[in-house]
Amino acid sequence: MKKYLIIATVATLFSGVTLFGVESKTVEKVYQKECGSCHMAYQPQFLPQRSWSKMMKKLDNHFDVDASLDANDNKTILVYLTSNAGDVKASTKHFSKMSNSITSNETPLRISQTPYFLREHRGIPKRFIEQKEVKSLANCTACHTTANQGSYSERAIKIPNYGRWED
Ligand code: HEC
Ligand code: HEC
Repeated sequence: MKKYLIIATVATLFSGVTLFGVESKTVEKVYQKECGSCHMAYQPQFLPQRSWSKMMKKLDNHFDVDASLDANDNKTILVYLTSNAGDVKASTKHFSKMSNSITSNETPLRISQTPYFLREHRGIPKRFIEQKEVKSLANCTACHTTANQGSYSERAIKIPNYGRWED
């Protein structure tokens, strides 16, 4: 009995550190739950470490809403975000293009205002963005049907009330 208790305690102490495969799954769950309720849980690869650190420091005023967390969850999520950030772990061409477009003297808090993002989305007519099914370019899943799986391929783009995007 005591042995299990010790194991559980050690596991708790290390939560937030991706030490075991099981742990990293748990951490991702915490991220999905806490950062995926108002909008999709954005892939950490979209922003550099410094952006996530800055964002996690002022969650009480997060784009005009209060998204604050208790200290434990905040730390767990900060470790998850910074260890998977675009400047340390850009795993696909989209993530590395995004990362490369951000100059080192900038600390963007919005993915939707990075140079690569703006370049990719500048051809979309305003009415498709402003319509109630989309509302904002931050609402990736409204158009990118596979965004939650981290896939942004053009084939999977479907704009509400318009359809597939051909350019
Ligand atoms: C209470 C609701 C809420 C929670 C919880 C929340 N956010 Fe947000 N978040 C917002 C709002 C509102 C915006 C602005 C969306 C817009 O402009 O359409 C936003 C925007 C963002 C953006 C910028 C999107 C863009 O424009 O590229 C990022 C990145 C982000 N949130 C990350 C997080 C992270 C990380 C967490 C968890 C720590 C989190 N959010 C939790 C409400 C929330
Ligand atoms: C209004 C619909 C819409 C929203 C919302 C939207 N996108 Fe897009 N996105 C597009 C379209 C359309 C393209 C293709 C533009 C082109 O190639 O002309 C695109 C292209 C991209 C590409 C490049 C794909 C490629 O292979 O060239 C990435 C990456 C991407 N979007 C990420 C995002 C992310 C991340 C978000 C949310 C923060 C987002 N998008 C929100 C419509 C949208």
